[in-house]
Amino acid sequence: MALRLLLLLLALLAPRAAPRSAAPRTARPFPEVQQMVHRFSQESIFNYTVFLVAPQSRTLYVGAKNAVFALSLDSVSQHPKMISWKVPENHRISCTMKGKKEAECHNYIRLLKFSSETHLFVCGTHAFDPQCGFIKVANFSKVERQESGRGKCPFEPAQPSAAVMADGILYAATVNNFLGTEPIISRATGNPEERIRTETSIIWLNDPDFVGSAFLRESESGEDDKIYFFFTETAREYDFYEKVKVPRVARVCKGDLGGLKTLQKRWTTFLKAQLVCSDPEHGTTFNLLRDVFTLRSGNATVFYGIFSTRRDGGEVSAVCAYSIQDVHKAMNGRFKEFKRDCDKWTSVMGADVPEPRPGACITNSMKLAGFGSSLALPDRVLTFVRDHPLMDQAVHPLESGPLLVNLDMPYRSIAVHRVKSLSGLEYDVLYLGTEDGHLHKAVKIGSEAFITEDLALFPEPQPIHSLQLHQSWLYVGSSSEVTQLNTTNCEMYKSCQECILSRDPACAWSKEIGACISHQQQNDLLQDILSVNVLMLCPEGVEDAPVPVEVPTAIGTRLVLPCLPRSAWSTCTWQKPHVDASVYTLRSDGLELTVSEETLGDYSCWCTEGGVGSMLASYSVMQGSSPSSSCRSTQRRYSALMGLFFFLLGFAAGCCCFLAYEKTRRDRHQRGLINHEKNGLDLMQSNTTSCSHEPHTPSSPEDERHPLATAKKNGGLNGFPHLYINELDKDQARIYLGGVPLAKCDETSI
Ligand SMILES: *[C@@H]1O[C@H](CO)[C@@H](O)[C@H](O)[C@H]1NC(C)=O
Ligand SMILES: *[C@@H]1O[C@H](CO)[C@@H](O)[C@H](O)[C@H]1NC(C)=O
Ligand SMILES: *[C@@H]1O[C@H](CO)[C@@H](O)[C@H](O)[C@H]1NC(C)=O
Ligand SMILES: *[C@@H]1O[C@H](CO)[C@@H](O)[C@H](O)[C@H]1NC(C)=O
Repeated sequence: MALRLLLLLLALLAPRAAPRSAAPRTARPFPEVQQMVHRFSQESIFNYTVFLVAPQSRTLYVGAKNAVFALSLDSVSQHPKMISWKVPENHRISCTMKGKKEAECHNYIRLLKFSSETHLFVCGTHAFDPQCGFIKVANFSKVERQESGRGKCPFEPAQPSAAVMADGILYAATVNNFLGTEPIISRATGNPEERIRTETSIIWLNDPDFVGSAFLRESESGEDDKIYFFFTETAREYDFYEKVKVPRVARVCKGDLGGLKTLQKRWTTFLKAQLVCSDPEHGTTFNLLRDVFTLRSGNATVFYGIFSTRRDGGEVSAVCAYSIQDVHKAMNGRFKEFKRDCDKWTSVMGADVPEPRPGACITNSMKLAGFGSSLALPDRVLTFVRDHPLMDQAVHPLESGPLLVNLDMPYRSIAVHRVKSLSGLEYDVLYLGTEDGHLHKAVKIGSEAFITEDLALFPEPQPIHSLQLHQSWLYVGSSSEVTQLNTTNCEMYKSCQECILSRDPACAWSKEIGACISHQQQNDLLQDILSVNVLMLCPEGVEDAPVPVEVPTAIGTRLVLPCLPRSAWSTCTWQKPHVDASVYTLRSDGLELTVSEETLGDYSCWCTEGGVGSMLASYSVMQGSSPSSSCRSTQRRYSALMGLFFFLLGFAAGCCCFLAYEKTRRDRHQRGLINHEKNGLDLMQSNTTSCSHEPHTPSSPEDERHPLATAKKNGGLNGFPHLYINELDKDQARIYLGGVPLAKCDETSI
């Protein structure tokens, strides 16, 4: 009973931190990265932010400030071509006269697309007077046929916007006026009769920041092709005093021609839904969308988004992914409605929704029903869609939560590709650009993305604005330059273990060459994405492994084999004798199992951090005289008699821990760094540490490998026991971790 109270107390102290904190602690430093990259920049030209790939001509087009470049895809630094597109002097002066800063009164290229096979379409802010024009690809020499860029390109250089070409027609999301107060999503080029746009209404768009768009062909015949837009806007559906920002996905149908009377020259298919990226377990909601990448792979489309939220003056980021099916489900669900009479938001359904379904694309079946185009839609359908652009259901992420959370540094940009592993299975590899110029590479395995590489790209920190993947190249856009990296850099991993533990699906270990190589052509290579078989694959790495600790035990004993990773960023895997995973419970502090004939044998714990792995602990579980069974009765009596004592001790420890926890929590918040704590066990351990003023990190490398040694040295009184054998239930096992001394018989059992 007393124990349970103590447990409850400790449980109340359980942390509220993100579960999958990321970022390997040791980034590859700039000098090392310098040898792996190509760089391009032109003197006195900055803001290399827009990319366009032309695979046939092997050209990378880049939009910068006052210039457009044509670079070689194979090496950006070789034979660059440039078109200078500046704002005339008098125009610049009148821009500053209107109260704008000199730095803003330039031509920041914000849009670069193919308008046809022979021409590029390019737009720039042009000193708060956006302009667009065409560049002949064959003779990359000048911007011709200039026209107003209003509704295509923002006025202000820092204003976010998005645009996509669909069959030669531009669909753009930007602001439509000098003051930046009129957001617009429109069909921005093509036949003037078909230039459809959003209604000017805060129900449709409320102070949005557009971050991305995508054109998806969703049927063979093209009848159901849609354009998606991603943005953050101020929500109206939450009744708070403060403005609430929410991430959204909106879509329109490519065939939309607007209404005849109602919604004339306005979208009749504009629907939007909220994107959810939150960690319900820990109550963190990431409500600001920063960037989106659309991964197309066959018929499956996945939207990867970077989300962030403000916390303690800083910003923390998460990556969430959404399937197109889930977006469709939300768009085909109920509509949200504000009921004025009862002053609240509800959903509309059944008979209150007119037919044909508002916002639906005009498909062949609708044509057969007599609706040849959106112009033929009845008024009641159009007024309904005008008043109900918001869907009731939100779009929930794949794996029902963030794939990765970074509490250290906000992410700014993302690119993803799907890489085939040696086994033929495909894995999504994510590239994430941070606010301070680091590039993170992460592999999605199961429901999590593991960061496998962290590169410091620049000598001075600066945000990464854009990322572009093409084949095995990654192009990075920043204020100062274009940086080009090979995405397959297997030689970086020097040993078999590093190669396997890097989890890079493109890399494999060649025994023959004795090197980590890209596995494209070769056979007879070693790879293990889950990194569970390192010991078997790389036997030569065993020499520097810790000496196995012998664990004599009896069948039926519950056992925890400790393995404390060196940092919260490590990921650990176990090499174990029995293959059936359900026999084991992986805990943050070790591996839990019940001893049986099958689970007797050798165990080793492998932890990897930033692509570098090592064996941290090794055990040999064998059948033997288990002192724990001989003193079972002692232990029971011990528990009963010491109950009250434990409670008092526990309460005192709890108070102390609470204070310590509060303090550490504040400290951590200040550092913006919250540890990777999965189930509260870690916290309990660190509390013990704070209470007893013991350093969390063991004092010598030997102790680190054999945490048991620490517990023994300290007589098990102050130090928390790392290895224990018991037949008690799991709850009681937790109390052991809470700092209560280990029973004597347990201690002697090893
Ligand atoms: C093509 O560009 C070159 C300069 O690179 C220029 O001299 C030439 O007149 C251009 N030709 C055409 C047809 O525009
Ligand atoms: C353009 O680059 C300059 C110089 O690095 C930087 O200070 C500025 O913030 C950038 N502007 C935009 C809009 O990215
Ligand atoms: C994609 O197509 C494959 C066959 O090519 C099919 O088995 C699979 O179910 C499809 N997936 C979706 C999401 O439609
Ligand atoms: C990238 O590096 C790998 C070796 O790791 C090499 O085989 C490949 O050719 C390189 N890719 C390109 C495009 O140069």
